[in-house]
Amino acid sequence: MSDRHNQPWTPAAAADLYGIDGWGAGFFTIDNHGNLAVTTRQRAKVALKDIVTGALERGHATPLLLRIENILEERIRQLQHSFTQAIATHAYTGSYHGVFPVKVNQHQQVVSEIIRCGAPYACGLEAGSKAELALALAAAPPDGDDLLILNGYKDRQFIDLGLWAHKLGRRCFFVVESLSELHLLLTRALALGIRPRLGARIKLAVKVAGMWTETSGDRSSFGLDSRQLVAMIDILRRHNMLDCLQLLHCHMGSQIPSLNDIRAGVRAASHYYRHLLAEGAAMGYIDFGGGLAVDYGGTASDASYSCNYTLAEYADAIVAELSACLDDELPQPHIVTESGRALVAHASLLVFDVIDVAHFEAVAVPQHLDHDAAPVLRQMLSLYRQALISGGTEHYATALQLREELRSCFQRGTINLRQRALGEDLFLAVAQQVANNCAAPELRAQLADIYYGNFSVFQSLPDTWAIGQYFPVVPLQRLDEQPQREAIIADLTCDCDGKLDSFIVGGQQRTTLPLHQPLPDEAYYLGVFMMGAYQETLGDIHNLFGDTHIVSVRINDDGSFAIQQEIDGDSVADVLHSVHYDARQMVAQMRTFAEQQVRSGHITVAQRRQMLEQFCSCLNDYTYYRTTI
Ligand SMILES: Cc1ncc(COP(=O)(O)O)c(C=O)c1O
Repeated sequence: MSDRHNQPWTPAAAADLYGIDGWGAGFFTIDNHGNLAVTTRQRAKVALKDIVTGALERGHATPLLLRIENILEERIRQLQHSFTQAIATHAYTGSYHGVFPVKVNQHQQVVSEIIRCGAPYACGLEAGSKAELALALAAAPPDGDDLLILNGYKDRQFIDLGLWAHKLGRRCFFVVESLSELHLLLTRALALGIRPRLGARIKLAVKVAGMWTETSGDRSSFGLDSRQLVAMIDILRRHNMLDCLQLLHCHMGSQIPSLNDIRAGVRAASHYYRHLLAEGAAMGYIDFGGGLAVDYGGTASDASYSCNYTLAEYADAIVAELSACLDDELPQPHIVTESGRALVAHASLLVFDVIDVAHFEAVAVPQHLDHDAAPVLRQMLSLYRQALISGGTEHYATALQLREELRSCFQRGTINLRQRALGEDLFLAVAQQVANNCAAPELRAQLADIYYGNFSVFQSLPDTWAIGQYFPVVPLQRLDEQPQREAIIADLTCDCDGKLDSFIVGGQQRTTLPLHQPLPDEAYYLGVFMMGAYQETLGDIHNLFGDTHIVSVRINDDGSFAIQQEIDGDSVADVLHSVHYDARQMVAQMRTFAEQQVRSGHITVAQRRQMLEQFCSCLNDYTYYRTTI
């Protein structure tokens, strides 16, 4: 980048290249040593590399998931503060209630941190299954002001548990998603003698842009349409329970990049709210679900990987639209949002080391060929000489044809292995020359290095594979040095999908990422950022790579850091157990096999012992790559 403008490379150029200021939301900067650092609200700064070193010194290994507690705390504060400001600006009379949807990150450590940091704002929880409800009930005392929103399909057990929570004093809202669920809910409420607080989830006709567009519009699978909503009102009226209907719920999708879509959704929902009041429902709350986006690409745009608004603008848009759409004489509802991604995404990052690099470039280009060299090799060398003078895309096209010819000569047996290798080298030399001379992104992708990372896409970044999600990927060190390589990143799994090859670089979508050439005696760490939302529990154990180690860190005001919590990643035995193997039985089996080999004289008793020790140590070890020292 700076090269192109003949300017010296600076950390600011690195920040531009990797979009750090855009996606980092003020939490990440480059320090004076070219290291990527986490920065707190109190301006304390710690290099992420130092945190990784600290974790390794304490016995952990890469890949490592780092959770930065200060970031989570700050995101909760910022969201709350944004609504407080917007409410004051518009002299709005309702209050704001933030609710964390547990599905976005169910980890005990994360949920308990949210409850702890969110306590001053009565931050509540949203549960969408029995397991999530169970954890939400045990997470906070029942007599607080925090809300507990119950979404999803609810069977009798789910409903009964929610009703008991209500009885205990928890401020539970049963959000009705379907009429069948309503019947069961009323039956159980009657049986237990409880008048629950109810919500109605509606389908908004508004269709939003972004990756989760299917969650919105008429054909979304959740919620009631206007006919079903009328039926719900009539049923409640018949049961004399219209006073129980207190909340209107809508969720237009996750990661909504455009503020205009959010405004349109709020306007649409407010009409329903008004009509529910007119029908005689008690109401009081309006819940906009999730959707508050984060800027994975750092471009502040309405691209699906970005968002064109700030937290403050989001809050202001909701409050302003509600104020404008609801008549002055109506009581203004309390506002609930279920922002998950926006609360937790920034707080977690995955750190892995690069364990190997494959280059796609000529190893040794000959100056001359033997007099009896195959014609195809002569043509290749001549093409290379032309390309040195003015290599254009036409040279690359010819090189591709010649490479085809080279490969078929090898198949026919008219050239040997060494001649083929020579021809492949010449091909790469031509391609490299063309790439140097003209900006051809496809060619750059063809010649990109492969950096092999010590991690699993399927375990740690499932959304990159499943839905083509972008995450910022940045080296943790050497940001004061211009990256000279272009690379894609392959993971440890033996799967061609196990790779990262979509990046936002300098604000543009690219298939390769500029990186530094790793140095021989120095670990080269890459961080994948903003992965606190959804990734931690959606991942799977493809190739039996298990959970990574997790280290939770708090940055102190004096610029030091403290490791707060450590969770060991899965061992080999753990992942085998999850697919129903019994490590003890496996050891017993290996003992028997080895004993048979001792008896038949294939191995000695000492070798048997050595082999079994190795087997047991492997079962207890981390599932990821261990660098040999
Ligand atoms: C009902 C509901 N609420 C909240 C969320 C969280 O959304 P987000 O992560 O966009 O904040 C979701 C996620 O899809 C959801 O389905």
